[in-house]
Amino acid sequence: MTTLTAKRILVGVSGGIAAYKSAELVRLLRAAGAEVRVVMTPAATRFITPLTLQALSGHPVRVELFDAGAEAGMDHIHLARWADAVLVAPASADLLARLAAGRADDLLTTLCLATRAPLLVAPAMNSAMWAHPATRDNVARLAARGVTLIGPAEGEQACGETGPGRLVEPPQLVAAVAGRFRAGLLDGVRALITAGPTREPVDPVRFLTNRSSGKMGYAVAAALAEAGASVTLVSGPVALEVPDRVRCIRVERAAEMAEAVRARLAEIDLFVAAAAVADYRPAETAPHKLKKRAERMALPLVRTPDILAEVAASTRPPFTVGFAAETEDLERHARAKRMLKGVDMLAANRVGAGEGFEVDDNALLVVWEGGQAWLPRAPKPQLARRLVRLIAERYRERREGAPGTPASTGDEKDTA
Ligand code: PMT
Repeated sequence: MTTLTAKRILVGVSGGIAAYKSAELVRLLRAAGAEVRVVMTPAATRFITPLTLQALSGHPVRVELFDAGAEAGMDHIHLARWADAVLVAPASADLLARLAAGRADDLLTTLCLATRAPLLVAPAMNSAMWAHPATRDNVARLAARGVTLIGPAEGEQACGETGPGRLVEPPQLVAAVAGRFRAGLLDGVRALITAGPTREPVDPVRFLTNRSSGKMGYAVAAALAEAGASVTLVSGPVALEVPDRVRCIRVERAAEMAEAVRARLAEIDLFVAAAAVADYRPAETAPHKLKKRAERMALPLVRTPDILAEVAASTRPPFTVGFAAETEDLERHARAKRMLKGVDMLAANRVGAGEGFEVDDNALLVVWEGGQAWLPRAPKPQLARRLVRLIAERYRERREGAPGTPASTGDEKDTA
């Protein structure tokens, strides 16, 4: 588990012999779970090709400030906003001078000026250039502005001299970036969550569904991502925006939702079933619109797969969390459903007449073996963070045998 999971790191590369080390840097950042974009100065492209860094980062490398071929929505301002941290490695003497002067004369310096993310720079240059009063002055100005300087390291240099000026090695650069992020409760945990309703087709224009808006499940997906988990959401049809840092797979029918979950089961640590999955579907889907004829008609239904029970009963089950939508006797039904489905934890909510479904707030009774917690009525995003905190505690207990230690879900305001 690493604090870099799903973090967005913008790597800036300026012109210098150490630019070749940016290839290893990008590789290590990705191996630590970060999403990486690379911006190079034109001079850097003379030391290492954009193609190399494109292959290693998995994204096109940007060099030009006004790049007609840039990815849609990734102009320089978007890129500056996208980053959780900017790391310039190597930072040449010229780049330090331009940053210190607040110049915006190429894409990299413009981004460094436009971003609100922490800026880290790893200088690399000849030791005489590093010792020059102009460079000392630039470095002091950058440090005074809150820029983090990493290195340089001392040793033999490409120019034959020995002294300070070597680029700090990529593993230490990665550690320095990781150190900028707070540890989340679920760093590195691979979570899969279902949300929203399913639609079971009767004919080409009609379907059986329910009142789920997806709000509760989407809020849990967002809270899991905030807590550092890498989150995949399998969503039924809803009118909600996918939360930041969450991958979304859209499905309609229960069978499709079950298939999407099965396909990912081997690669997840945590499964949360917040979807209101139809328990039954029409036995047949009519190929054409059903005509209005008889006064009464019967629609034969058959069971859908129970996704949650299937996951809990799998050979190597992830930590499983179910929901229960109940109209009465919450505690008794919650305990019975947890046992019946064989899940680690179950969050029960009261539904009906303005409760649970569609509305913006909710309350949950969470039960697990040997314990329970009542999470009182609150807006769904806030409730979801509390639920994720409980999940993280129980998850750790089960996976590591260690008692849960509340850390951070990424939401310092919510201390419940
Ligand atoms: O989406 P909102 O409008 O915000 O409303 C939120 C909610 C009320 C839908 C949500 O909080 C909730 O309770 N979701 C579960 C609803 C439900 O289907 O409950 P259930 O008691 O019928 O099912 C128990 C559990 O089994 C659930 O985790 C469900 O996802 C799962 N299940 C059920 C049937 C099935 N075929 N497969 C399943 O995985």
